[in-house]
Amino acid sequence: MRRKLVVGNWKMNGSLAANAPLLKGVAEGAGAAGADCAVCAPAPYLAQCQQLLAGTPVAWGAQDVSRHASGAYTGEVSASMLMDFGCSYVIVGHSERRAYHGESNELVAQKAVAAMSAGLTPIVCVGETLEEREAGRTTQVVSAQLEAVLALLDGQQVSGIVVAYEPVWAIGTGKTATPAMAQEVHAQLRMQLKEKSADAGAGVRILYGGSMKPDNARELMAQTDIDGGLIGGASLKAADFLAIVQAA
Ligand code: PGA
Repeated sequence: MRRKLVVGNWKMNGSLAANAPLLKGVAEGAGAAGADCAVCAPAPYLAQCQQLLAGTPVAWGAQDVSRHASGAYTGEVSASMLMDFGCSYVIVGHSERRAYHGESNELVAQKAVAAMSAGLTPIVCVGETLEEREAGRTTQVVSAQLEAVLALLDGQQVSGIVVAYEPVWAIGTGKTATPAMAQEVHAQLRMQLKEKSADAGAGVRILYGGSMKPDNARELMAQTDIDGGLIGGASLKAADFLAIVQAA
């Protein structure tokens, strides 16, 4: 039985002043839930997350990581730096990074490896654009995105990742995949994980992301292969985020 996981992706939002009540609200409300819960904050606020979330049931993480361990890579943040601030998770391959920063499947896979080598759990994002869906290429696109990561990991390592299926057309648009549409892709991803390792197929959590809100979370997460959510907009309000955690 996979334990549900709900992760907030704050994206490039927040301030020291605004984060404090949000983090405290989430920490207070998450205690009663029977699901795992985390927030992925902008890197400058990871110290604040550590300060306000340590000792609570809420874990925290980052939204990106360098594929390099250290050195002359101006502006980049390494996985060991994220570990210094108590991170458990890091998102890799979010569609916004793929689209605006030209991240390839191979680079995303290298970032997942860098994260795992330092002891972080990578949340590997996959998802098709509307154009790709309409062209009937959804399976091909998401399986190539996942395959690049599987190619660099052994079966045991694969069991340690989290996958997030986020159809690009559903992110921040208010358009959600129907539970059946999402389940279909999740089931395919799970089969692909299973081919790599039976343990990974059974144990890896596959989150859904893309306009998940309190009013659609329950139905999405009731699907056999939907093990939680990666929440953007709704993670910026404690009440909404907590309602999704409760639904999980
Ligand atoms: P959204 O974003 O919930 O605002 O659609 C999800 C994501 O991009 O992770």
